[in-house]
Amino acid sequence: MYVSIHFVDDIILFLLLLVWIIAGFQVFLLPRQASSKRQRLGIRRSLFWLGLSELLVLIKLGAVVAKWVLFGWIFAQERMLLDLPLLVLPALSVLLFSFPFLRRMSRNLPQDGASPAKQDAAAPALLVPTLITVVGVVLDTYLTLIYTDPSSLPLLLILFALFCVVLWFWSTFGKKLPLFSNGRKTPQLAETRVRWWHLPLRIVIVLAVVTLCLTGWFSWSAQASRLPDRIPMTGNMMDNMTGDMTGHNMQHSQQNDVSVTSLVGPQSGEPNERFTLVAQEAEMRLRSGATVNAWIFNGQLPGPELRVHQGDLVEVKLINRLSHAGVTLHWHGLDVPNAEDGVAGVTQNAVQPGESFTYRFVVKDQPGTYWYHSHQDSLEAVEKGLFGALIVLPRDDSFTGKDIPVLAHSWLTKEGSSQQAFDTFDTLKRLAVQPGTPVRLRLINTDNLPINFVLSGTSFKVIAIDGTDLHAPTELTRQRLLVAAGGRYDIQFTMPDTAVSLDWLQKSSKVGLLLSRDGTGNAPALADGPVFNPATYGSPLKTPFDLSSHFDKEFTLILDDMIGFYDGKMESVWPINGEVFPNTPMLMVHEGDLVKVSFVNRSWMDHPMHLHGHHMLVLSYNGRPVTGSPWWVDTLNVAPGERYEVAFRADNPGIWMDHCHNLDHAAAGMILHLAYEGVSSPFEVGPGTVNQPE
Ligand code: C2O
Ligand code: CU
Repeated sequence: MYVSIHFVDDIILFLLLLVWIIAGFQVFLLPRQASSKRQRLGIRRSLFWLGLSELLVLIKLGAVVAKWVLFGWIFAQERMLLDLPLLVLPALSVLLFSFPFLRRMSRNLPQDGASPAKQDAAAPALLVPTLITVVGVVLDTYLTLIYTDPSSLPLLLILFALFCVVLWFWSTFGKKLPLFSNGRKTPQLAETRVRWWHLPLRIVIVLAVVTLCLTGWFSWSAQASRLPDRIPMTGNMMDNMTGDMTGHNMQHSQQNDVSVTSLVGPQSGEPNERFTLVAQEAEMRLRSGATVNAWIFNGQLPGPELRVHQGDLVEVKLINRLSHAGVTLHWHGLDVPNAEDGVAGVTQNAVQPGESFTYRFVVKDQPGTYWYHSHQDSLEAVEKGLFGALIVLPRDDSFTGKDIPVLAHSWLTKEGSSQQAFDTFDTLKRLAVQPGTPVRLRLINTDNLPINFVLSGTSFKVIAIDGTDLHAPTELTRQRLLVAAGGRYDIQFTMPDTAVSLDWLQKSSKVGLLLSRDGTGNAPALADGPVFNPATYGSPLKTPFDLSSHFDKEFTLILDDMIGFYDGKMESVWPINGEVFPNTPMLMVHEGDLVKVSFVNRSWMDHPMHLHGHHMLVLSYNGRPVTGSPWWVDTLNVAPGERYEVAFRADNPGIWMDHCHNLDHAAAGMILHLAYEGVSSPFEVGPGTVNQPE
């Protein structure tokens, strides 16, 4: 489990909030003390709490600076920009005005028995900075933890500044604010006895008003976060996009736009491979006996394994026999023409129950391991089983050993538990393999979280990642293989005389694959070790571009976590550059552009970033260039605190999804698009359409 890099920072923030509120209350009570003795005590208490508050502000500042030094400015900038105006400056004013004032007051206090110094205790120099800081801390905490549209930040800061100025004026010249009165506003009022319930009453009223405001603010935010019924993929939406697409006149170019629907594979010609996939509902059993209310292709869970060869013309007919949900087919990792990419609302409409759709594409020269899955409400569809392995074999396939795809998935059982399994094996899966046989394991993570695999009982090589062979892989033992959600690793070894096991590292139940001469026997000792690092594995090879290339477009994508409203619900939101879909940036490119993308993960969870239609070459990891084999990915796990630079050639025109393959995150808005100039999509997503890609 990871801990957020903001953890220390956040804890201090909570303490700050608490301590400043206590300090503020002490100061607020000063003019209300009945005797000079109690006032003296109050002054001492105020000094203590204010001092503690100031100390915490200093520590908080230190924590942010530490983050800056340890991880880089990009990890600290937002916190710094919020803390300075909302915390540091107000706290400084307390230090400069309130403290000296309190000290002076404590020196000039009347003797015991004399009436307390109410006039003094209500002085603006004391109250105004303290009040401003308390409000600043509350606002800082809110903006740090609760997702707020970045465009409303400047307004909030201006409002805060305005509040400070008004408060200062009012307290200095107005003297009307009850907070600054000493209970003797006018001679008449002075005669009125202050009754015991006055203070509690005031507190109740203040609390009621605050609660009312908060409730109003919350329901307004929930409402405002609702997605529009129809979000067009191109056109209007782009006009709302912030970031790198601005300056592009979509409206103007629309006349000559190429529609994604025309970016199809070959429409004629006899296919080399033809498949039909029928989606339907069924109750399926895992090997342990647990049942799953599944969505299946062709009666199988997971769907049938599709094996094709590079260069093949493939035709797949999708038939939807589900009772109510739409389906599409997306070829995860395969760079197909845009119209064949199978994303509901981007490249096609979701195929409705009773309907069918045919995909045709030529398999590019990318032999390797892929998978397919529905991309209509993929969070639910993939979880329930609408996926399968997609294997591209080289044209001259000479591999004669055992080729074993392993689809690692968490099934939600009818009983409500989440059951981790290889295919449907939520128990040990045994296979008989003759010693001396070459074995290729194709590890496919169809889950939402990264999976740690451990291979025990033999040394092995990682021969491919995300369908691309690695150059000069070396023998490994005792390494943990972290495969991104949606990602694939291919590993190879020669079957030894003794048993070999593949494990999914996890806390509970034993999921594994056991290979042995006759399929029986015990598993070898677990060969766990450090996490395998592709950045330094294998040896380099000339690549079409590298860190020193000139890039036509450069984008930085900052991944965050917050609590906030998305589509009317309060949940974890996962903003990219401070925005959630549909306000996330659109990466606009020209065909032929060399594009560099930097990923920065400031959140506490992994984000397996998946780009459709292209393969990205990893250039650097945490600022260090990749020194091993060229490392091509379509799904890159970006762990908390990590930075990656990747590059790709924009050579496949269309509108492509680029999203987190933790589908929970994608469904909460962690989605953006790569769009080519001059390409438009007639499709729309949103509650008012049939399309909901995640
Ligand atoms: Cu595997 Cu956009 O998906
Ligand atoms: Cu994510």
